[in-house]
Amino acid sequence: MCGIVGYIGPKQASTFLIDGLSKLEYRGYDSAGIAVHDGNQITIEKTIGRLANLEKKLDKHQLQGSLGIGHTRWATHGRPSDVNSHPHSDCTGNFVVVHNGIIENYMYLKEQLIAKGHIFTSETDTEVVAHLLEEHYDGDFEVAVKKVLDDISGSYALVFMTKFEPGKIICTKQDNPLVIGLGEGENFIASDIPAIINHTRRTYILSDGEMAVVTKDSVWVTNRQGVPITKKVFEVHWDAEAAEKGGYEHFMSKEIYEQPKAVRETMTSRLAKDNSHVTFEELKWSKGEMAAITKVMIVACGTAYHAGIVGKYYIESLARIPVEVDVASEFRYRSPLVDENTLAIVISQSGETLDTLAALKEAKRLGAKTMAITNVVGSSISREADQVVYTWAGPEIAVASTKAYTTQLISMAMLAIYMAGLRETITAERSQELISGLRNVPAQIHEILEDVEPIKTFAQQYGFNEDVFFIGRSLDYAVALEGALKLKEISYIHAEAYAAGELKHGTLALITEGVPVIALATQHDVYEKTLSNIKEVKARDAVVIGIAQQGDDQIKKYVDHTIFIPAADKFLAPILAVIPLQLLSYYAAVTRGCDVDKPRNLAKSVTVE
Ligand code: F6R
Repeated sequence: MCGIVGYIGPKQASTFLIDGLSKLEYRGYDSAGIAVHDGNQITIEKTIGRLANLEKKLDKHQLQGSLGIGHTRWATHGRPSDVNSHPHSDCTGNFVVVHNGIIENYMYLKEQLIAKGHIFTSETDTEVVAHLLEEHYDGDFEVAVKKVLDDISGSYALVFMTKFEPGKIICTKQDNPLVIGLGEGENFIASDIPAIINHTRRTYILSDGEMAVVTKDSVWVTNRQGVPITKKVFEVHWDAEAAEKGGYEHFMSKEIYEQPKAVRETMTSRLAKDNSHVTFEELKWSKGEMAAITKVMIVACGTAYHAGIVGKYYIESLARIPVEVDVASEFRYRSPLVDENTLAIVISQSGETLDTLAALKEAKRLGAKTMAITNVVGSSISREADQVVYTWAGPEIAVASTKAYTTQLISMAMLAIYMAGLRETITAERSQELISGLRNVPAQIHEILEDVEPIKTFAQQYGFNEDVFFIGRSLDYAVALEGALKLKEISYIHAEAYAAGELKHGTLALITEGVPVIALATQHDVYEKTLSNIKEVKARDAVVIGIAQQGDDQIKKYVDHTIFIPAADKFLAPILAVIPLQLLSYYAAVTRGCDVDKPRNLAKSVTVE
């Protein structure tokens, strides 16, 4: 949530700041602003709305100077408005700050500062930081920043600038990401790598509690007590184009179409050539350790949580270990029963989701073994977990997660086969069957993506309905949950996912003539039961779109329209069945004229609780 950038060097800072913010808009787009130091004074330009609004303002009023910071906001404290936009400054305008996160004790600090005569202009928590800096500055910028950090509590990535020291920027972080890009005679600061990758591939990834004093020629990192820290340079390997739209109208469609590649890359080095087993070189478990695990807890948010539900089916069926799946924001507050024989698996595309990170820390504190499935190398979650499995999906920019989800499912399937192998709960034949099935998945996704016209037509036909239901049983129910979330978040259509057998316990009352019901029927072992549930909604005159496996010659008799996915093992069908649902929500959002990549009220990386 919120994207922050900073620049110090010989060039015009505003050029980098605007370009950098454009790569971080996925983190929030309620407002945007920059502050630039021209050698004498700092000038701020900021405005409500998208970055384009700020650019328009800057066309009329260029900010000159080679030192600057910028921000794109996802509003938490204070509604989106010009005054609540960052950067924020103190009473004098001599101290300026941008912030991602939440200052939890800001109300108390604000009251104290007001009592001392400080005048506040915004409703934000961030503004207290600028006033505290003013309060503490006594000729030494670093000392003042340290005092501010002693005063505040909460989560933050902060970047500070002062009129009095035009040769440096100071930045620090706690539970929110911050990267420093190392240039030649210039340095860059950003919340995420896409903002700096066009300028440098050499980075320092700051850890919690670290503070960096950045000049154009140096980056000096210490802890809060001032003890120097030697940072390792982290080289970014992915290519800059991966974070561009590459001819697609939206990042979301590009990312949907990247799924065959993303899935293949996540699998290849992990499947034995003869399909006999899965190897995870990064996991260091012995048979004994795996046998000792008595419980798995999967914790995640949103789409990643839905991948966790599929993971539960996989691990319980194959590795025969009981699995609980928790929404991360609930996990910490329910006194979970965790011990040293518990394996806590967190799933997070960004590796920065605060609730998931906090749940991971809590599971660790309670003694669990921990593991992360994440897409971002060097992310906070990857650094906190005992072991990490990376999904190799490449950068996911659209707010709605697509390729990260399918690579999470692939990772869960591989992990379950791997665990089952170590626990000897899977036969060689079943293992081989599943692994060869996994190898087919990229081509099968490609096949679905080759024929999107019928899905587009359904989206155009039903895209203006206000309610849509998704039903399914077993693994189809898990996919239904993801389909409903996708539709809600990008097309703003109210969508509900129901375990098909549960409808008759209340929700069936909402099924009336013409209500679209997307019925997933890909699971052979519950197929007849699903057909019965389809009949129940048809009897209430719902319009049913069935999602079924190729070769199913019954389904058409029961539904109004059918979308077929290539025939696959029931375990792997979810990875295919979700693709038409992603496309359906994408085309529904396009039909309704929604901002597909940046849906209202949302942001890509949720680093607040
Ligand atoms: C929905 C979506 C979100 C994320 C959730 C967790 O399309 O993207 O529900 O899945 O915010 O994010 P990560 O995976 O980064 O922890």
